[in-house]
Amino acid sequence: MLQLKVIDTADVPAVMALQAECYGPEFLESAEAFEAKLRATRGLHCSYLAVEGDRMLGYVVSLPVGAEGLPALDAPHIERARTPDSLYLHDLAVSPAGRAQRLGHKLVQQVVQRAQDMGLRQVSLVAVQGSSDYWRRLGFQDADAPLSAAIAQKLASFGPDARLMRRDLVPA
Ligand SMILES: CC(C)(COP(=O)(O)OP(=O)(O)OC[C@H]1O[C@@H](n2cnc3c(N)ncnc32)[C@H](O)[C@@H]1OP(=O)(O)O)[C@@H](O)C(=O)NCCC(=O)NCCS
Repeated sequence: MLQLKVIDTADVPAVMALQAECYGPEFLESAEAFEAKLRATRGLHCSYLAVEGDRMLGYVVSLPVGAEGLPALDAPHIERARTPDSLYLHDLAVSPAGRAQRLGHKLVQQVVQRAQDMGLRQVSLVAVQGSSDYWRRLGFQDADAPLSAAIAQKLASFGPDARLMRRDLVPA
């Protein structure tokens, strides 16, 4: 049976193995970068591993951010946002062995639900590897231009084709 388990730092090797299956070399983050995000969100329950029996099939990592808070790719230090307005979905990956079973949708839905529970007004993300259409089907839209210089600089760390996307949440 499929289970979504809150990720902790002991799961980082499994997350790194899934990352290597799902991303090109230019997007690979270090264990240090994953650990920094997990440390900054300890107790918030916003990152999940999809597990079926003893198989790890996918993961999603997210963190609350303020207006200028998008973390750069592979950032080794992350501060917890004091006044977050968005749950930033940093990373979604589903192993080729687990694809096309709506697992990606389930992990995103878990993050959307968590953002709602936390009273945040949107979920944001950076679409890479040509995934914008996937996100559009999940209700995300390109962020309005122009972006601030701080956000544009962090977006650039994801490469020239990266796009900032957002999904507004309906207040509860
Ligand atoms: C993107 C990803 C998470 C989707 O996972 P998944 O569990 O297979 O997806 P779901 O089952 O939720 O959805 C499957 C649907 O999305 C479509 N889809 C999958 N990846 C897509 C992509 N990159 N672009 C557009 N559509 C995509 C599938 O064709 C399928 O369409 P259908 O419903 O018409 O059959 C997975 O392919 C992955 O890990 N890719 C590599 C990492 C990545 O690019 N992550 C997103 C970067 S921001």
